[in-house]
Amino acid sequence: MSTERRLRLPGLAYGGDYNPEQWPEEVWAQDMALMRAAGVTMVSVGIFSWALLEPSQGVYDFSRMDKILELLHDHGIAADLATPTAAPPAWFFRAHPAALPVDRDGRTLSYGSRQTFCPSSPAYRAAALGIAGALAERYADHPAVAMWHVHNEYGCHNAECFCDTSAAAFRNWLRAKYGNDLDALNDAWGTAFWSQWYYDWAEILPPRATGADPNPTHQLDWRRFCSDELLSLFTAERDVLRRAAPAIPATTNFMVMHNFDALDYWRWAPELDVVSNDHYLRSTDPESQIDIALSGDLVRSLAGGRPWLLMEHSTGAVNWQPVNRAKTPGEMRRNALAHVAHGADGIAYFQWRAAKAGAEQWHSAMLPHAGTDSQIWQDVVQLGADLGALAEVRGSTSPARVAIVWDWNARWAMEAPSQPSGALRFQDLVRDWYAPLWKAGVAVDFVRPDAPDLDRYQLVLAPSLYLVDDAGAAGLAAFVEHGGTLAVGFHSGAVDENCHVRLGGYPGAFREILGVHGDELFPLLPGQSLTLAGQIPPGASADLWSERLRLTGAQAVATYADGPLAGVPALTRHTYGSGTAWYLATHPDPATLAAVLQRIRQEAGVRPEREVPDGIEVVRRRGTDADYLFFIDHAGHGAEIPADGIELLTGKPVTGSVTVPEGGVAVVREQVAEARGA
Ligand code: GLA
Repeated sequence: MSTERRLRLPGLAYGGDYNPEQWPEEVWAQDMALMRAAGVTMVSVGIFSWALLEPSQGVYDFSRMDKILELLHDHGIAADLATPTAAPPAWFFRAHPAALPVDRDGRTLSYGSRQTFCPSSPAYRAAALGIAGALAERYADHPAVAMWHVHNEYGCHNAECFCDTSAAAFRNWLRAKYGNDLDALNDAWGTAFWSQWYYDWAEILPPRATGADPNPTHQLDWRRFCSDELLSLFTAERDVLRRAAPAIPATTNFMVMHNFDALDYWRWAPELDVVSNDHYLRSTDPESQIDIALSGDLVRSLAGGRPWLLMEHSTGAVNWQPVNRAKTPGEMRRNALAHVAHGADGIAYFQWRAAKAGAEQWHSAMLPHAGTDSQIWQDVVQLGADLGALAEVRGSTSPARVAIVWDWNARWAMEAPSQPSGALRFQDLVRDWYAPLWKAGVAVDFVRPDAPDLDRYQLVLAPSLYLVDDAGAAGLAAFVEHGGTLAVGFHSGAVDENCHVRLGGYPGAFREILGVHGDELFPLLPGQSLTLAGQIPPGASADLWSERLRLTGAQAVATYADGPLAGVPALTRHTYGSGTAWYLATHPDPATLAAVLQRIRQEAGVRPEREVPDGIEVVRRRGTDADYLFFIDHAGHGAEIPADGIELLTGKPVTGSVTVPEGGVAVVREQVAEARGA
């Protein structure tokens, strides 16, 4: 990540997607006045404006954008200027029908919405770079432009295209990966199985719909290719912008949230000048505050620990779930300030003004259909004031001593077809482990499996690491050897980077560190559960997974008390080198998992940020000469918490304890004894 190209705005950024082209010009002046009233400092413009900016190929109309940028500048509002390449115009597809994407079943999709293009289409790439270049040339020196917003949510609707052009691009990617050696590919993919051996590169196709289960390594390389293919579109646009405007940072909005798994953001993040993320709540998630925290910690980790921007979330309901719930009183403020607590240096919404037409007319916005005579508007103005009061938090970081291993390759491989259990979901398994740490107020970073600097953590957790390469396994082993504590979840270390089973017993790559040997997997059926016994809370149960394990150096901390594996270890602890390695070979009920993780972290010497009552989130951001303690009441009971300093949202001094209002937030600046240096 570039150090020179940073977003240079004072304080925390505040704003949203601004689409004035969807409104008559009379409305724009009102927008400016209301943005000022709400404390908006930056808006994203032009995200879906391609058809208006380029009415026909190579013919540009910048008249509207000129006025919009002028207006923003006159009102002291910065522009995050988008390249509109997520929504190619109709004229483009009429000229280039081959750029339309084809789905797994061979169906060609039509234009008429957005992100309906083939990522490998040369015509699309040329057109996208054309409009990006024209915008860059025109606006590189415009004083309103603070950042480039490249495209929008890469891969949201078109992460995979199965057309012949994509097939050719996939083959090129494979040739590069396997050094043009077809035997190496055959070996990696295990194509001796089911007569899949390839004799000619031209025989290789994307994993299109076929009669039986696909080859796992073929699938996995395909997912890697699709992520890389979109990444190359991002870097190509970024480079065009960079050439024209070397000092302006570029971002693209990630989607680190439930269910979106198309992109390997560990590969993407270093290419961005500023990491930004979109996060939306799932209406059916009763603890969406945990999802916000998890995604915030993951995005901050992707950003190398540096602050990031929340590019989109919603003031109220979205429009794309089966039923779209509104937020409860105070929830919008808690959500936004939780993102700040987890490292966001700016908060933005989709979108500024609620649309009256188009597919998103029922999506909430900062300025709702009802206008300023609305609760949401009041909340938006309040949040602007809050962010203003928190300006000094900008640039502060996180002091986590616990890391959770997160890997998109492991996720893709484990969730592919023909697994021992089709019920395993990577993000759910990670969240199961993250939730009790969050509830206890323990700060967490996320790391890639081969992270070079694990030694700065006391405790590393790998809740779900089905796939791990030798370097990743060796790094985790070294961490334990040097005195760290590692806890590994079931069905981890099972396969290498080619999805080949690691032979000799489960959990393959981690057998030696964990001091256990498994010889058979016993996934549980839906509704089936087992009782656990040992040094765990009475009445403990487990579902989803079990395995026949014997000890080869570890001690059993808990065993199965019933079922076919009665007496077999379910939780083990092993001293390895100067450290300790735990193996949780099953999926305990949440209370048991919380108790297990509490013991593990206490033995590892990891303490919470502060003891807080249930339902209060506590997060620390670490500044140069002060720490910022965020207390967020998700339970609605309020609390009195020991603290000293200044409560920034009210500006009042805090002596001995701070009051967290019911359903509210308190942020205490605590002075540190000595400045830490930048
Ligand atoms: C995504 C997109 C936005 C909008 C929102 C609606 O995040 O980037 O353009 O469609 O979803 O929630």
